[in-house]
Amino acid sequence: MRLVLFGPPGAGKGTQAKYLATHYTLAHLSTGDMFRAAIKEGTPVGKEAKSYMDAGKLVPDSVVCGIAGEGIENAGLNQFILDGFPRTIPQAEWLDDFLTRHNADDYVVVSLKVDVELIVERLSNRRMNKETGEIYHLVYNPPPADLPTQVLLHRSDDQPEAIRERLAVYEADTAPLEAYFRGKNRLKEVDGVGEIEEIFERIKAVLD
Ligand code: AP5
Repeated sequence: MRLVLFGPPGAGKGTQAKYLATHYTLAHLSTGDMFRAAIKEGTPVGKEAKSYMDAGKLVPDSVVCGIAGEGIENAGLNQFILDGFPRTIPQAEWLDDFLTRHNADDYVVVSLKVDVELIVERLSNRRMNKETGEIYHLVYNPPPADLPTQVLLHRSDDQPEAIRERLAVYEADTAPLEAYFRGKNRLKEVDGVGEIEEIFERIKAVLD
């Protein structure tokens, strides 16, 4: 299965991707996680990406397509979930071209639908385990009580100003992709509001 998880920041792509990767045995390819790892390692890609990410802006398409293509090839081209890629029309065109060249252009897009007010609430309360990448929400999916607080990361782009910018960028550059995927008959829309497990069941229902 080749799956693209699509939706605004905070829609729950990363949360659902972890469940789906385990259930369907798929490689979870998150361009955001790839950039955060590159920043941690201090690589040239990480250095370039950091200023864009902290400001809530998109990393340039050429950089993102390079890192995503590498991830897809390393995953073996067949069993993967793309989380956070593509998110511009040029990235989607690049992906179509890349997969067609590799005889692997059969993929499905699941779009998670969540309102803006809920997104702001989810992102403000998100915390991530720096060591394992586990995602928590302080209220709905709280970290274990015995987890040391210094292990929990409050992402720099989850501050109010960066959240506002990310949502504006989503509306301008990423939301138009829905029509692109619909036009190619790839789009499955799923209500992203509710319990995490409930949403997982909805996604499985459209995929199975
Ligand atoms: P990235 O890391 O991809 O961030 P994002 O797309 O903005 O998505 P998020 O990780 O913020 O949200 P999510 O949908 O995964 O939600 P989550 O599951 O965590 O990208 C970061 C940056 O990298 C970008 O801004 C850009 O700079 C750069 N970048 C990455 N890819 C790029 C690309 N293709 N092109 C250009 N630049 C790129 O959930 C959010 C919170 O809600 C969590 O706390 C979670 O616990 C909680 N939650 C989830 N589901 C539920 C639920 N059902 N009920 C209650 N709480 C829930």
